[in-house]
Amino acid sequence: MALNDIQNEILKLKKEKDICILAHCYQTPDIVEIADFVGDSFALSVEASKVKNKTVIMCGVRFMAETVKILSPEKTVYLANPDAGCPMAEMMDKELIEQVKKQYPDYTVVAYINTTSELKTVCDVCVTSSSALKICNSLDSDKILFIPDRNLGSYIAKQMPNKEFKLLSGGCPTHARMSASDVKKAKAEHPNALFLVHPECVEEVVEMADYVGSTTGIMNYAKNSDAKEFIIGTENSIVSHLQLSCPDKMFYPLSKDLICHNMKITTIVDVLNCVKGISGEEIILDEDVRLGAKRCIDKMIELG
Ligand code: 13P
Ligand code: SF4
Repeated sequence: MALNDIQNEILKLKKEKDICILAHCYQTPDIVEIADFVGDSFALSVEASKVKNKTVIMCGVRFMAETVKILSPEKTVYLANPDAGCPMAEMMDKELIEQVKKQYPDYTVVAYINTTSELKTVCDVCVTSSSALKICNSLDSDKILFIPDRNLGSYIAKQMPNKEFKLLSGGCPTHARMSASDVKKAKAEHPNALFLVHPECVEEVVEMADYVGSTTGIMNYAKNSDAKEFIIGTENSIVSHLQLSCPDKMFYPLSKDLICHNMKITTIVDVLNCVKGISGEEIILDEDVRLGAKRCIDKMIELG
């Protein structure tokens, strides 16, 4: 079957079956083209609370599909490819954080949304890369235990010297792999390019950037900038999306290794099979877990 035929079949079936397809920006262009909504983690969460269709298919990773189910329990929610997990979300569990909380009883626990639903039940508020600064700033508490991404946490902490941050050593294996020497090499090859980076990268990489932001933050910056060349310090799908939407500008990956295999595991055929009802995993959450996690996500949407 040709790509176009697969895409048309998906569009026909999703209309017949009242399905909404949500895709994270790290999905491939063929999936992005047929999605009803494409965004970063924060925008997907907001969209998840507003969807009207009776079924939602998430093309992204597991915690994103769980977020949809948490916010819209009456909907049938599928993760298009059940193997798409986020390694960072699996790094810390509820038991570990309950122990850490005993050491820091007066700290507000801020959880990056890249966490399991179960872990969210023992946290106070969720954040995403695009909402973390605003939310941490608006919290009454000036003591923050930020989990699990040490890099995002330290990027936020540096901008808030008035608050005390405790960080744990978790993070995104894809972004954290990038080093200052990757940046020096890319800058030497493309001396006129601006360097745009995601705050999941390590501090020394973030410090070398012209702009720091979420996936959509990076895309919007590049689209609106008068500059013509950019080194992209986030997952390489953003390079492809920007090349397609701004063919008059040049985009270079910080490294050919900046690929999240979990985000890339979902294919257009997975999406086709999911709309057909022959694959994908329906997300089922225990009601106590759902309500416990919802508290943190609702607070994020309210403050963000
Ligand atoms: P954002 O979508 O918030 O930019 O996060 C990127 C990411 O790594 C998602 O897993
Ligand atoms: Fe998780 Fe990193 Fe992949 Fe995002 S890019 S899904 S944080 S492993």
